[in-house]
Amino acid sequence: MCGIVGFTGKKQAADILLDGLSKLEYRGYDSAGIAVTDDAGQTEVVKAKGRLKVLEEKTDWGRAVKGSCGIGHTRWATHGEPSEDNAHPHISDDMNVVAVHNGIIENYQEIKQKLSKNGYVFYSQTDTEAIVKLIDYYYKKYNGGPIDAIAKAMVRVRGSYALAVMFKDYPGEIYAARKDSPMIIGIENGEAYLASDVPAILNHTRNVYYIDNLEMARLSESGVQFYNIDGDIIEKTSVEIKWDAKSAEKGGYAHFMLKEIHEQPKAVADTINSVVKDGKIDFSEVGLSDEDIKGIGEIIIVACGSSYHVGMVGQYVIEDMAKIPVRVELASEFRYRTNLLRKDALVVLISQSGETADTLAALRDVKQQGIKTFAIVNVVGSSIAREADNVFYTLAGPEIAVATTKAYSTQLIVTYLLSVQLAKVRGEINDEEYSSLIKELTTLPEKIQKILDDKERIQWFASKLANQKNIFFIGRGIDYAICLEGSLKLKEISYIHSEAYAAGELKHGTISLIESGTPVVGVLTQNDLFEKTISNMVEVKSRGAYLMGLTTYGHYNLEDTADFTVYVPHTDEHFTPSLAVVPLQLLAYYVSLAKGLDADKPRNLAKSVTVE
Ligand code: AGP
Repeated sequence: MCGIVGFTGKKQAADILLDGLSKLEYRGYDSAGIAVTDDAGQTEVVKAKGRLKVLEEKTDWGRAVKGSCGIGHTRWATHGEPSEDNAHPHISDDMNVVAVHNGIIENYQEIKQKLSKNGYVFYSQTDTEAIVKLIDYYYKKYNGGPIDAIAKAMVRVRGSYALAVMFKDYPGEIYAARKDSPMIIGIENGEAYLASDVPAILNHTRNVYYIDNLEMARLSESGVQFYNIDGDIIEKTSVEIKWDAKSAEKGGYAHFMLKEIHEQPKAVADTINSVVKDGKIDFSEVGLSDEDIKGIGEIIIVACGSSYHVGMVGQYVIEDMAKIPVRVELASEFRYRTNLLRKDALVVLISQSGETADTLAALRDVKQQGIKTFAIVNVVGSSIAREADNVFYTLAGPEIAVATTKAYSTQLIVTYLLSVQLAKVRGEINDEEYSSLIKELTTLPEKIQKILDDKERIQWFASKLANQKNIFFIGRGIDYAICLEGSLKLKEISYIHSEAYAAGELKHGTISLIESGTPVVGVLTQNDLFEKTISNMVEVKSRGAYLMGLTTYGHYNLEDTADFTVYVPHTDEHFTPSLAVVPLQLLAYYVSLAKGLDADKPRNLAKSVTVE
């Protein structure tokens, strides 16, 4: 996700801002910019698409931009392609307000409409420009000063933000506001710093304040003052950061993978909120019309790796909800087969990176046949996103660890949303079922968080698997699709051989591999298949298997069969992959940790496979 920095004090600001942004590069970005106000109160804004190096060269490493108060930003695109116009800082027309933002303003379209009626024009596609001009609007309309204008904007917007704002009338001062997106503020020797994350200011100070949700701050040479949303002054105590620089990039987590596992509640919520408005799914920005949906004769999902596993979930969910035939294909196989596609087919391509060679090639093949394509992608402006007819962006933010977790989870969410929308438009579910499914979706973030809060049991069990040579995952239906992802997670970061098996298929050969002590993970979240899978677990137990069971609360009879049982909260059975996958992600991570491996950079693997 985006990174923001700010500085005000006696030193020149530009090189401090650039250095701070360089410490946030790990967060992933596609453009960057700074704004610096000089002693005469003039503000210069410099932005550049691409790597930070481009901005450094443009500003002669900061030397060309004078002033001791400024803000900076690295942008991970969520609304609008990577470009200079869309890069931050964003400004009001008369430079009265200049700001940078990390987060998502969900209702930015309605805010733009409101401001347009009041004479504002917009130069970018971003949600950020909307909040900048909204602050300017309130500042001029009520003449209540910066804190009042920002507070009014905070009340009006929906979404998440870490904002750093400069006002022309208040040179030398930076105003901050936060809701859900991270921000810290540091003070040292009469200098004030702000940033999205600790690494950006660790060279300057370890003395930081954590601004809380719906709070604001005023940074100046005399230090920092905090305010609540009513504009009342509040007192906060600073804390001393004890992390070293490297662990600070991971927000205190040992690995990016663990950090990204913990980012799933927010990533899932952001992705849901990107299209769910007032309890309804709004696909208008995605571009799949009701007419398109009614005309779909079959769906083919094409992807690789974990994205393919999302497709496997999608097959069960879409067929059950929308009654549309679905086929899931490995892109590397699909692209070389004689594909007999119906003209009314919809091909769905799923890719975190949007650059996977096999998936991109499959997309191009299908487009040549004149078949409609729909992409589910995490990286804005990536090749697959640009070339598909329609794209639904997951809002997982940049994913650093090679083993995908939060991107996988947001892809699942998009698959559910697509399934529900297809079912509603095609009359397969009524209004009540539609509303109930959407309401249940919005409970997933807190249910994921509940699982994360109880992760110690998984860590204990993982230590028992670290020396194993073979581990099996078995399940039926959607549970089989969950097994596929759990098995891949384990394999790719612990190097233990693992197989996911349709539980009913085991006895057709592979059960011969089960011997005393062989670990088998049974996934049982589908009520109507529960007893069937229990039987398969009893079969392998009778051959000596060491059983872990993964099910939803209430199925305590599983403990009669399994040696170790993990429970996840209840949800609509179509959505259980979003919950069941979390213990399996944690299991893989902790096994990797127990083996002393680097979970973030597993051997032989790349984050994006851009070659065949
Ligand atoms: C997932 O943990 C793996 N790193 C890998 O299977 C990945 O899902 C696959 O390469 C597809 O990548 P994509 O989603 O970027 O297309």
